[in-house]
Amino acid sequence: MTGDKVVVGIGDAEDSEGAIRWGAAEAASHGLPLHLVHAFVWAEFRVPLGPSDVAPGLRAAADKIVAAALDLARKFEPGVPVTACRVDGFPAPVLLAESRTAEVIVIGSRDAGRALGLLVGSTGMSLAAHAHCPVVVVRPTEEALVGNRVVIGYDGSPAADAAVDFGIDYARRHGLVPRIVSVLPDDEDDDLSAALRAHEGARTAEVVQVTGHPAELLLEWAADAQLLVVGSRGRGGFTSLLLGSVSQTVLHQAACPVAVIPTAALESPQARWPGTVRH
Ligand SMILES: Nc1ncnc2c1ncn2[C@@H]1O[C@H](COP(=O)(O)OP(=O)(O)OP(=O)(O)O)[C@@H](O)[C@H]1O
Ligand SMILES: [Mg+2]
Repeated sequence: MTGDKVVVGIGDAEDSEGAIRWGAAEAASHGLPLHLVHAFVWAEFRVPLGPSDVAPGLRAAADKIVAAALDLARKFEPGVPVTACRVDGFPAPVLLAESRTAEVIVIGSRDAGRALGLLVGSTGMSLAAHAHCPVVVVRPTEEALVGNRVVIGYDGSPAADAAVDFGIDYARRHGLVPRIVSVLPDDEDDDLSAALRAHEGARTAEVVQVTGHPAELLLEWAADAQLLVVGSRGRGGFTSLLLGSVSQTVLHQAACPVAVIPTAALESPQARWPGTVRH
Protein backbone atom coordinates (compact mmCIF):
# COMPACT_ATOMS: atom_id res chain seq x y z
CA MET A 1 0.00 0.00 0.00
CA THR A 2 1.52 3.33 -0.95
CA GLY A 3 -1.29 5.88 -0.91
CA ASP A 4 -2.38 7.42 2.35
CA LYS A 5 -6.03 8.03 1.45
CA VAL A 6 -8.87 7.12 -0.88
CA VAL A 7 -9.81 10.10 -3.07
CA VAL A 8 -13.22 10.66 -4.65
CA GLY A 9 -13.65 13.27 -7.38
CA ILE A 10 -16.99 15.02 -6.94
CA GLY A 11 -18.71 16.29 -10.08
CA ASP A 12 -22.28 17.29 -9.52
CA ALA A 13 -24.17 15.71 -6.68
CA GLU A 14 -26.27 13.07 -8.50
CA ASP A 15 -23.42 11.69 -10.60
CA SER A 16 -21.22 11.36 -7.55
CA GLU A 17 -23.38 9.39 -5.14
CA GLY A 18 -22.25 5.99 -6.40
CA ALA A 19 -18.61 7.10 -6.38
CA ILE A 20 -18.90 8.40 -2.80
CA ARG A 21 -20.52 5.14 -1.68
CA TRP A 22 -17.81 3.05 -3.41
CA GLY A 23 -14.96 5.23 -2.16
CA ALA A 24 -16.26 5.26 1.42
CA ALA A 25 -16.54 1.45 1.47
CA GLU A 26 -13.03 1.16 0.04
CA ALA A 27 -11.59 3.58 2.60
CA ALA A 28 -13.23 1.52 5.38
CA SER A 29 -11.85 -1.69 3.92
CA HIS A 30 -8.30 -0.27 3.65
CA GLY A 31 -8.49 1.47 7.03
CA LEU A 32 -7.63 4.75 5.28
CA PRO A 33 -9.22 8.19 5.44
CA LEU A 34 -11.45 9.40 2.62
CA HIS A 35 -10.81 12.68 0.81
CA LEU A 36 -13.46 14.29 -1.40
CA VAL A 37 -12.34 16.82 -4.01
CA HIS A 38 -14.48 19.11 -6.12
CA ALA A 39 -12.71 20.92 -8.97
CA PHE A 40 -14.12 24.40 -9.44
CA VAL A 41 -13.71 25.05 -13.15
CA TRP A 42 -15.13 28.56 -13.30
CA ALA A 43 -12.05 29.96 -11.66
CA GLU A 44 -10.10 28.90 -14.77
CA PHE A 45 -12.06 30.92 -17.28
CA ARG A 46 -10.34 34.20 -17.93
CA VAL A 47 -13.57 35.79 -19.09
CA PRO A 48 -15.89 38.02 -17.09
CA LEU A 49 -18.52 35.89 -15.36
CA GLY A 50 -21.16 38.57 -15.79
CA PRO A 51 -22.45 40.70 -12.91
CA SER A 52 -19.87 40.97 -10.18
CA ASP A 53 -21.89 38.88 -7.76
CA VAL A 54 -22.09 35.83 -10.04
CA ALA A 55 -18.66 34.40 -9.30
CA PRO A 56 -19.12 34.34 -5.52
CA GLY A 57 -22.53 32.73 -6.14
CA LEU A 58 -20.90 29.99 -8.19
CA ARG A 59 -18.31 29.45 -5.49
CA ALA A 60 -21.06 29.16 -2.89
CA ALA A 61 -22.85 26.61 -5.10
CA ALA A 62 -19.63 24.62 -5.37
CA ASP A 63 -19.19 24.71 -1.61
CA LYS A 64 -22.72 23.36 -1.25
CA ILE A 65 -21.82 20.41 -3.47
CA VAL A 66 -18.79 19.74 -1.28
CA ALA A 67 -20.83 19.96 1.94
CA ALA A 68 -23.52 17.61 0.55
CA ALA A 69 -20.83 15.11 -0.50
CA LEU A 70 -19.30 15.23 2.96
CA ASP A 71 -22.68 14.49 4.58
CA LEU A 72 -23.27 11.59 2.22
CA ALA A 73 -19.86 10.04 2.91
CA ARG A 74 -20.41 10.30 6.67
CA LYS A 75 -23.81 8.67 6.27
CA PHE A 76 -22.36 5.77 4.23
CA GLU A 77 -19.38 5.10 6.52
CA PRO A 78 -19.70 6.87 9.87
CA GLY A 79 -16.45 5.29 11.10
CA VAL A 80 -14.25 6.63 8.30
CA PRO A 81 -12.48 9.99 8.76
CA VAL A 82 -13.54 12.23 5.86
CA THR A 83 -12.17 15.51 4.55
CA ALA A 84 -13.50 17.48 1.60
CA CYS A 85 -12.40 20.53 -0.34
CA ARG A 86 -12.99 22.71 -3.37
CA VAL A 87 -9.94 23.19 -5.58
CA ASP A 88 -9.84 25.80 -8.35
CA GLY A 89 -9.03 24.11 -11.65
CA PHE A 90 -10.21 21.68 -14.29
CA PRO A 91 -11.10 18.21 -12.97
CA ALA A 92 -8.46 16.21 -14.84
CA PRO A 93 -5.35 18.12 -13.64
CA VAL A 94 -6.77 18.57 -10.13
CA LEU A 95 -7.45 14.84 -9.76
CA LEU A 96 -4.19 13.85 -11.46
CA ALA A 97 -2.33 15.82 -8.81
CA GLU A 98 -4.34 14.02 -6.11
CA SER A 99 -3.49 10.64 -7.64
CA ARG A 100 0.16 11.04 -6.60
CA THR A 101 -0.71 10.45 -2.97
CA ALA A 102 -3.90 8.40 -3.29
CA GLU A 103 -4.24 4.65 -2.84
CA VAL A 104 -7.04 4.72 -5.37
CA ILE A 105 -9.04 7.50 -7.02
CA VAL A 106 -12.76 7.12 -7.63
CA ILE A 107 -15.00 9.08 -9.98
CA GLY A 108 -18.59 8.83 -11.10
CA SER A 109 -19.81 8.46 -14.65
CA ARG A 110 -22.91 10.00 -16.06
CA ASP A 111 -26.17 8.64 -17.33
CA ALA A 112 -26.49 11.35 -19.95
CA GLY A 113 -25.13 10.21 -23.28
CA ARG A 114 -26.14 6.61 -22.67
CA ALA A 115 -27.69 6.55 -26.13
CA LEU A 116 -24.23 7.02 -27.58
CA GLY A 117 -22.78 4.41 -25.26
CA LEU A 118 -20.37 7.02 -23.93
CA LEU A 119 -20.66 6.97 -20.19
CA VAL A 120 -17.22 8.17 -19.26
CA GLY A 121 -16.30 11.77 -19.89
CA SER A 122 -12.95 13.28 -20.71
CA THR A 123 -11.93 13.46 -17.04
CA GLY A 124 -12.34 9.72 -16.63
CA MET A 125 -10.49 8.91 -19.83
CA SER A 126 -7.67 11.27 -18.99
CA LEU A 127 -7.31 9.90 -15.45
CA ALA A 128 -7.42 6.29 -16.63
CA ALA A 129 -4.56 7.08 -18.99
CA HIS A 130 -2.35 9.24 -16.77
CA ALA A 131 -3.09 8.75 -13.07
CA HIS A 132 -0.39 7.60 -10.66
CA CYS A 133 -2.72 5.20 -8.88
CA PRO A 134 -5.59 2.92 -9.91
CA VAL A 135 -8.72 4.72 -11.10
CA VAL A 136 -12.22 3.40 -10.47
CA VAL A 137 -15.17 4.66 -12.51
CA VAL A 138 -18.49 4.03 -10.81
CA ARG A 139 -21.87 4.03 -12.52
CA PRO A 140 -24.61 6.16 -10.97
CA THR A 141 -26.85 3.11 -10.39
CA GLU A 142 -24.92 0.58 -8.38
CA GLU A 143 -27.75 -0.99 -6.37
CA ALA A 144 -28.84 -3.24 -9.21
CA LEU A 145 -25.56 -5.21 -9.42
CA VAL A 146 -25.92 -8.94 -9.03
CA GLY A 147 -23.20 -11.53 -8.59
CA ASN A 148 -20.11 -11.89 -6.46
CA ARG A 149 -17.29 -11.90 -8.99
CA VAL A 150 -14.34 -9.55 -9.49
CA VAL A 151 -13.46 -9.96 -13.16
CA ILE A 152 -9.89 -9.27 -14.26
CA GLY A 153 -8.91 -8.89 -17.93
CA TYR A 154 -5.58 -10.64 -18.45
CA ASP A 155 -3.55 -10.46 -21.65
CA GLY A 156 -0.12 -11.18 -20.14
CA SER A 157 1.01 -7.52 -20.21
CA PRO A 158 2.63 -5.79 -17.20
CA ALA A 159 -0.51 -3.68 -16.68
CA ALA A 160 -2.66 -6.82 -16.71
CA ASP A 161 -0.32 -8.39 -14.13
CA ALA A 162 -0.97 -5.38 -11.91
CA ALA A 163 -4.70 -5.73 -12.62
CA VAL A 164 -4.55 -9.34 -11.35
CA ASP A 165 -2.94 -8.28 -8.07
CA PHE A 166 -5.35 -5.36 -7.61
CA GLY A 167 -8.40 -7.52 -8.40
CA ILE A 168 -7.37 -10.40 -6.14
CA ASP A 169 -6.68 -8.02 -3.27
CA TYR A 170 -10.04 -6.30 -3.76
CA ALA A 171 -11.87 -9.64 -3.92
CA ARG A 172 -10.18 -10.85 -0.73
CA ARG A 173 -11.05 -7.70 1.22
CA HIS A 174 -14.68 -7.72 0.09
CA GLY A 175 -15.42 -11.45 0.26
CA LEU A 176 -15.81 -11.78 -3.52
CA VAL A 177 -14.52 -14.40 -5.97
CA PRO A 178 -11.82 -13.36 -8.48
CA ARG A 179 -12.27 -14.50 -12.07
CA ILE A 180 -9.34 -13.97 -14.46
CA VAL A 181 -10.45 -13.82 -18.08
CA SER A 182 -8.04 -14.11 -21.01
CA VAL A 183 -9.44 -13.69 -24.48
CA LEU A 184 -7.10 -15.23 -26.99
CA PRO A 185 -7.08 -14.49 -30.70
CA ASP A 186 -8.72 -17.24 -32.79
CA ASP A 187 -5.45 -18.21 -34.40
CA GLU A 188 -3.41 -18.40 -31.21
CA ASP A 189 -3.46 -21.17 -28.64
CA ASP A 190 -1.39 -19.33 -26.12
CA ASP A 191 -1.80 -20.57 -22.55
CA LEU A 192 -1.52 -17.75 -20.05
CA SER A 193 -2.12 -19.91 -17.00
CA ALA A 194 1.62 -20.52 -16.44
CA ALA A 195 2.19 -16.74 -16.14
CA LEU A 196 -0.65 -16.54 -13.65
CA ARG A 197 1.04 -18.99 -11.31
CA ALA A 198 3.53 -16.23 -10.46
CA HIS A 199 0.73 -14.37 -8.71
CA GLU A 200 0.12 -14.97 -5.08
CA GLY A 201 -3.56 -15.63 -4.65
CA ALA A 202 -4.24 -16.52 -8.30
CA ARG A 203 -4.69 -20.15 -7.26
CA THR A 204 -7.98 -19.25 -5.63
CA ALA A 205 -9.19 -17.50 -8.78
CA GLU A 206 -11.46 -18.91 -11.42
CA VAL A 207 -9.46 -18.83 -14.68
CA VAL A 208 -11.29 -18.51 -17.99
CA GLN A 209 -9.58 -18.72 -21.39
CA VAL A 210 -11.76 -18.14 -24.40
CA THR A 211 -11.26 -17.08 -28.00
CA GLY A 212 -13.01 -14.21 -29.72
CA HIS A 213 -13.38 -10.45 -29.40
CA PRO A 214 -11.59 -9.30 -26.20
CA ALA A 215 -13.79 -6.38 -25.10
CA GLU A 216 -17.04 -8.14 -25.99
CA LEU A 217 -16.14 -11.31 -24.12
CA LEU A 218 -14.77 -9.45 -21.10
CA LEU A 219 -18.09 -7.61 -20.85
CA GLU A 220 -20.00 -10.89 -21.17
CA TRP A 221 -17.96 -12.58 -18.45
CA ALA A 222 -18.43 -9.51 -16.24
CA ALA A 223 -22.23 -9.82 -16.21
CA ASP A 224 -22.06 -11.10 -12.61
CA ALA A 225 -19.19 -8.83 -11.53
CA GLN A 226 -19.06 -6.26 -8.76
CA LEU A 227 -15.90 -4.87 -10.37
CA LEU A 228 -14.07 -5.26 -13.68
CA VAL A 229 -10.32 -4.63 -13.58
CA VAL A 230 -8.07 -3.91 -16.58
CA GLY A 231 -4.78 -2.19 -17.34
CA SER A 232 -4.75 1.10 -19.24
CA ARG A 233 -2.62 -0.57 -21.92
CA GLY A 234 -2.10 -4.14 -22.95
CA ARG A 235 0.11 -5.96 -25.38
CA GLY A 236 -0.93 -3.77 -28.33
CA GLY A 237 1.85 -1.96 -30.08
CA PHE A 238 0.48 1.56 -30.60
CA THR A 239 2.30 3.40 -27.86
CA SER A 240 0.93 6.75 -29.02
CA LEU A 241 -2.47 5.66 -27.72
CA LEU A 242 -2.69 6.33 -24.02
CA LEU A 243 -5.61 4.04 -23.46
CA GLY A 244 -5.96 0.72 -25.28
CA SER A 245 -9.09 -0.18 -27.20
CA VAL A 246 -10.19 -2.84 -24.71
CA SER A 247 -9.96 -0.55 -21.70
CA GLN A 248 -11.75 2.24 -23.61
CA THR A 249 -14.61 -0.04 -24.58
CA VAL A 250 -15.13 -1.55 -21.13
CA LEU A 251 -14.95 1.88 -19.50
CA HIS A 252 -17.81 3.02 -21.70
CA GLN A 253 -19.89 -0.12 -21.65
CA ALA A 254 -19.51 -2.15 -18.47
CA ALA A 255 -22.57 -2.23 -16.22
CA CYS A 256 -20.39 -2.51 -13.11
CA PRO A 257 -17.63 -0.25 -11.78
CA VAL A 258 -14.39 -0.46 -13.77
CA ALA A 259 -10.92 -0.22 -12.24
CA VAL A 260 -8.11 0.79 -14.58
CA ILE A 261 -4.46 0.42 -13.63
CA PRO A 262 -2.67 3.22 -15.51
CA THR A 263 0.86 2.78 -16.81
CA ALA A 264 2.11 5.57 -14.52
CA ALA A 265 0.91 3.57 -11.51
CA LEU A 266 3.22 0.74 -12.59
CA GLU A 267 6.17 3.06 -12.83
CA SER A 268 5.91 4.36 -9.29
CA PRO A 269 9.20 3.79 -7.44
CA GLN A 270 7.73 1.30 -4.97
CA ALA A 271 5.73 -1.67 -6.13
CA ARG A 272 2.13 -0.95 -5.21
CA TRP A 273 0.97 -4.49 -4.82
CA PRO A 274 3.18 -7.28 -3.54
CA GLY A 275 3.57 -10.02 -6.10
CA THR A 276 3.35 -7.81 -9.17
CA VAL A 277 5.34 -9.44 -11.93
CA ARG A 278 7.45 -7.14 -14.07
CA HIS A 279 8.52 -8.13 -17.58
N1 LIG B 1 -7.30 -10.38 -24.95
C1 LIG B 1 -7.54 -9.90 -23.73
N2 LIG B 1 -8.05 -10.71 -22.78
C2 LIG B 1 -8.28 -10.24 -21.55
N3 LIG B 1 -8.02 -8.99 -21.17
C3 LIG B 1 -7.51 -8.14 -22.07
C4 LIG B 1 -7.25 -8.54 -23.40
N4 LIG B 1 -6.74 -7.52 -24.08
C5 LIG B 1 -6.67 -6.49 -23.21
N5 LIG B 1 -7.14 -6.87 -22.00
C6 LIG B 1 -7.21 -6.03 -20.79
O1 LIG B 1 -7.31 -4.68 -21.19
C7 LIG B 1 -6.17 -3.94 -20.76
C8 LIG B 1 -5.83 -2.90 -21.82
O2 LIG B 1 -5.49 -3.55 -23.02
P1 LIG B 1 -5.86 -2.97 -24.45
O3 LIG B 1 -5.96 -4.11 -25.38
O4 LIG B 1 -7.00 -2.05 -24.29
O5 LIG B 1 -4.56 -2.08 -24.76
P2 LIG B 1 -3.46 -2.28 -25.89
O6 LIG B 1 -3.24 -3.75 -26.10
O7 LIG B 1 -2.30 -1.47 -25.45
O8 LIG B 1 -4.14 -1.61 -27.13
P3 LIG B 1 -4.85 -2.25 -28.42
O9 LIG B 1 -5.17 -3.70 -28.13
O10 LIG B 1 -6.06 -1.40 -28.58
O11 LIG B 1 -3.84 -2.09 -29.51
C9 LIG B 1 -5.11 -4.98 -20.49
O12 LIG B 1 -4.17 -4.52 -19.53
C10 LIG B 1 -5.95 -6.12 -19.97
O13 LIG B 1 -6.30 -5.87 -18.61
MG1 LIG C 1 -4.70 -5.14 -26.68
